[in-house]
Amino acid sequence: MRFSKRLNKLAPYPFVEISRILTEKRAAGEDVVTFGIGDPDIPTPSHIIDRLVEAAHRPPNHRYPETDGLPEMRRAIADWYEKRFSVRLDPDTEVLPLIGAKEGIGHAAFCFLDPGDVALVPDPAYPVYAVGTMFAGGESYRMPLLEENGWLPDLDAIPEEVARDARVMWLNYPNNPTAGVADKDYYRQVVEFARRHRIAVMHDAAYSEVVYDGYVAPSFLEVEGSMDVGLEFHSLSKCFNMTGWRIAMAVGNADMIKALFQIKSNLDSGIPQAIQEMAMEALSGSQEPIAENNRIYQRRRDKLVGVLKELGLRVTPPQACLYVWARVPEGYTSAEFAGRLLEDRAIVVTPGSSYGEYGEGYIRFSLTTPDERVDTGVERLASWKIPPPQGA
Ligand SMILES: Cc1ncc(COP(=O)(O)O)c(C=O)c1O
Repeated sequence: MRFSKRLNKLAPYPFVEISRILTEKRAAGEDVVTFGIGDPDIPTPSHIIDRLVEAAHRPPNHRYPETDGLPEMRRAIADWYEKRFSVRLDPDTEVLPLIGAKEGIGHAAFCFLDPGDVALVPDPAYPVYAVGTMFAGGESYRMPLLEENGWLPDLDAIPEEVARDARVMWLNYPNNPTAGVADKDYYRQVVEFARRHRIAVMHDAAYSEVVYDGYVAPSFLEVEGSMDVGLEFHSLSKCFNMTGWRIAMAVGNADMIKALFQIKSNLDSGIPQAIQEMAMEALSGSQEPIAENNRIYQRRRDKLVGVLKELGLRVTPPQACLYVWARVPEGYTSAEFAGRLLEDRAIVVTPGSSYGEYGEGYIRFSLTTPDERVDTGVERLASWKIPPPQGA
């Protein structure tokens, strides 16, 4: 059998490997605590499930959905954006429901990139920006996210000839994996940069509702000119504990929405309508579940950050996002330190290096671990004496 070259270029998706190790350890009887994938452990709120049950019984929902979703769904998204961000969207031209942000992000690359074209991709980053680029035959130019720059790409450091050839820039705030945040001033600079170089900006705001200590994350679309240059990807996965239902949205520039619709309508057949009804219920119903989630994650954050500091790791309490991003001790690589945690404490974390070369030197803890498991993990860490790195 002959497989495509592109398949050979793909590393295993990071969490597939973590799931494999986890299954192996658990099969061997080890009590592993996992801070791996960012998949909310808290169930989908019951009023949203109730709507699914009711919607599932309605025969029109048993048929093919439209790729661009139910008109009521697009309206619910537009209304939510207006309520939450004061951003007004035309539900028929500036909103496109997605089968998860991952799907939309992967497909968006095909709208902007021909073989050899350049995409500006943050590093470390959610892997799908670079994978989508590769599938479309494009080249990723890595924009380092450095602690000293507040985890924001330094736009002035992008060489003129790279900016000239770039078709698209990916951004993601609040950021996975660093938990960095961006303000509107930064987004204004991005709009200016995008205009100057005729670059499409794809902002992934999947974590905008996961916030702590009163922080409020802005939408990229709140800044003037953003609708001319970009799209924002959002998702119900993280804020409404709906990762398993696969529903999200792209919003923004009407031509870009149309392009994404064109790609998608040739490849998928939309989101099951009963699931769209769940999303409508989530977006238009009480937003209290979001605040309740955030209180839970914040408690977990505080416990984890506390014990990591006691261990001597450099870590800043995140203001947003589902992750604690900690510097590994001097002399360790990310993978070595994650390996030590697994061997010595039966704790799974994600090595920063799996998000790109600039993630090296960090590990990521997800806060989507049930409270009692967080407590077990914290106890194991509190009683740990970190061994010196090998070769030290
Ligand atoms: C930055 C980022 N964007 C998008 C997604 C995917 O969201 P969805 O579940 O809507 O596909 C994730 C999932 O972890 C993510 O971390």
